Amino acid sequence: MTVHFIGAGPGAPDLITLRGRDLIAACPVCLYAGSLVPPALLAHCPTGARIVNTAALSLDQIINEMAQAHAAGLDVARLHSGDLSVWSAMGEQLRRLRALDIPVHVVPGVPSFAAAAAALQAELTLPGLAQSVVLTRTPGRASAMPAGESLTAFGATGATLAIHLSIHALDRVVADLTPHYGPDCPVAVVWRASWPDQRLIRATLATIQAQAQGIDRTALILVGPALAGEGFDDSRLYAADYDRRYRPIGPDPRFPDPRFPE
Ligand SMILES: C[S@@+](CC[C@H](N)C(=O)[O-])C[C@H]1O[C@@H](n2cnc3c(N)ncnc32)[C@H](O)[C@@H]1O
Repeated sequence: MTVHFIGAGPGAPDLITLRGRDLIAACPVCLYAGSLVPPALLAHCPTGARIVNTAALSLDQIINEMAQAHAAGLDVARLHSGDLSVWSAMGEQLRRLRALDIPVHVVPGVPSFAAAAAALQAELTLPGLAQSVVLTRTPGRASAMPAGESLTAFGATGATLAIHLSIHALDRVVADLTPHYGPDCPVAVVWRASWPDQRLIRATLATIQAQAQGIDRTALILVGPALAGEGFDDSRLYAADYDRRYRPIGPDPRFPDPRFPE
């Protein structure tokens, strides 16, 4: 018996891995985080499966569900939105399950920042503009930020910021980042990326508050010069004169490997 933690993706029911879908279909118990996991995914559960929305349960109750399935020898599909590596509350469940000697397996999912970038048709790391993406948030009612992880600290790097769980604090995001990026820096707010009612708002730090009025809850704020999608150099990777292993150039290539003739 295993508890399979499965990244359920950002919302569109076909943005799940084949492995995740097949495990949902194979598990007689499915626990899902009902606030964001698309209900359509539950259609993959086998007939007669025990399907539990954990949105209203405490951690103790969730672990109890898993322990009962373990005692009965039943595999569990545990669905969380997006990917499990960020803001999934998987860590605390893993810790309890390890203490109970219950086997676990983790299947990655499409994170919301990737779905938002796809909706914007944006590369977040453009040569000369940004080569790092910071996945971050502002403090919440239940989650203080560790010392040093402030928006102003990340803003000082000039990287592309993907700010989660913070649309309600857009005024603060703008105030903290404008001194670093300038008022004309491009910003995008993506609401419910990949859902049928997805909304995209492109603006600048100076104008985003007016344009994103009324947007709440499931939204990402992306900030940084790469959001402009212009003003950057081509990457060297595909430059005609760039000598590399998969495309050796000239009479004395740097990687003269006969396995990679061009
Ligand atoms: C609890 S976190 C879950 C993050 C998730 N594990 C991931 O991989 O993206 C919820 C936050 O993620 C962002 N989010 C999740 N799904 C989203 C979507 N479809 N569109 C835009 N933002 C989304 C929002 O900022 C939301 O407040």
